[in-house]
Amino acid sequence: MSDNRGNFSGRIGFILAAAGSAVGLGNIWKFPYLAGQNGGAIFLLVYLACVFLLCYPVMVGEIAIGRAANSDANGSYTKLGGKRWGALGTFGILAGIFILSFYNVVAGWAFGYFLHISFGDLLNETDFGGFFGAFVNDIMDVSSTKGFASSNLIFSAVFMALTAIIVSQGVQKGIEAANKIMMPALYVILIGIIIYSLTLPNAMSGVKFYLIPDFSEFRIQTVFDGLKQAFFSLSLGMGCLITYGSYLKKTDNISKSAAIISIADTSVAFLAGLMVFPLVHFLQWKLQVDNVATAGPPLIFIVLPQIFSEMGPLLGRIVGGSFFLLVCFAALTSTISLLEVPVAYFVDSKKMPRKTMVWVLAGVVFVLGLPSMVSQGMVPLLNKLPFYPFIGENKQDWLTFVADMCDISLVIGGCLMSIFISRRWKIENMHAEIELSDVGYSTSFLKKYLTFTITYIAPTLLGVLSVLVILEKFFGLSNLI
Ligand code: PHE
Repeated sequence: MSDNRGNFSGRIGFILAAAGSAVGLGNIWKFPYLAGQNGGAIFLLVYLACVFLLCYPVMVGEIAIGRAANSDANGSYTKLGGKRWGALGTFGILAGIFILSFYNVVAGWAFGYFLHISFGDLLNETDFGGFFGAFVNDIMDVSSTKGFASSNLIFSAVFMALTAIIVSQGVQKGIEAANKIMMPALYVILIGIIIYSLTLPNAMSGVKFYLIPDFSEFRIQTVFDGLKQAFFSLSLGMGCLITYGSYLKKTDNISKSAAIISIADTSVAFLAGLMVFPLVHFLQWKLQVDNVATAGPPLIFIVLPQIFSEMGPLLGRIVGGSFFLLVCFAALTSTISLLEVPVAYFVDSKKMPRKTMVWVLAGVVFVLGLPSMVSQGMVPLLNKLPFYPFIGENKQDWLTFVADMCDISLVIGGCLMSIFISRRWKIENMHAEIELSDVGYSTSFLKKYLTFTITYIAPTLLGVLSVLVILEKFFGLSNLI
């Protein structure tokens, strides 16, 4: 590979960028609502177990593959394992393109909400569910009375364009520089809102729900949700960390970096819960209801704005505006990484010019996202898919369907990656790559732990769970267990 494919300036740059990829809508949008639906603390425990036992080893493996091969996802598998294994890289690149297609739509919503709250019109609402429903179907309302055009088409186009501008600047000047600003800002906003939310009435009831496990709430579904969420949240199973790992210098420590990235991502998910549940329980107290936490996907778009409006016009704008700015930052550092995966493929493996490919791919992904954008009610066919293959009474929409399929493919991708390392590339080669930048590694416990988890635990457990997750999706869990 040519040397001008780019590098991170050092370990900190890489860690910030990879943590930026990991920290995203998955942490702030998905994690709190999944925890809300899956019994709070018990979900947190399952999630942590998945990160420790399965995700960390997979992450180390992915980074090592990328750095050893010094190429994109497809190029890396091809180089280390032959053409056939290259298909696994292609599978990951496609998964990334589909993730980005719907992810950018949700990021556009967050951007729109940021504007609506900052301009104040959202805070005067009385029906937040109704607002959300109208908002997501507002594809082209350029004649809006709100002072600006509330068009999801524009919001998500702006988001994609921002992503493309950053990625087109390259690894160090674009990706690394953007993350160096947005990641610290994200932590500051997050901690600021947590401190505020903990001072609200009934906040402690939210903290209890979140931190004290109620084991009677445990269901097998919690394991599936926790596992899929952990893969999604840590950006695993689709070659993102192979690509970022390929820009890591040989002198930078892989296992420590992976540990810091995992901890950073998990801590943001944890903190997002600590921010959301006190707010939610404050609202439950205020409205004298008790089922707000289980709101599902619209949790941050319907429930939180209601809370911000309860805070009054000024404070609501400040806290609500900061919250959605936080979501935008988190989403942007992830969309950057999602776009970089296919871009790297065309630059490395197909020798295409970076800037051109960035804009071509951004355009393609944007168009691929249009069905997701109109699937929230505007186009009835996409709102309740007629061919929806999954079990469940209410047939779901295209966006949810694509998100589900992507979640499953990440778990399968992680499983195949661990098989690749243990059966094809060989674990010794992975160890050798790690040892290049870690003198104590060869005699460490970590080496044994990674050998054991990547050779035995990850292929079997992820293999079984992949099958179960597919069966559960297509045939329903109740018929199974
Ligand atoms: N990890 C990101 C999030 O939590 C999403 C993502 C998945 C990014 C896969 C890159 C690759 O929002």
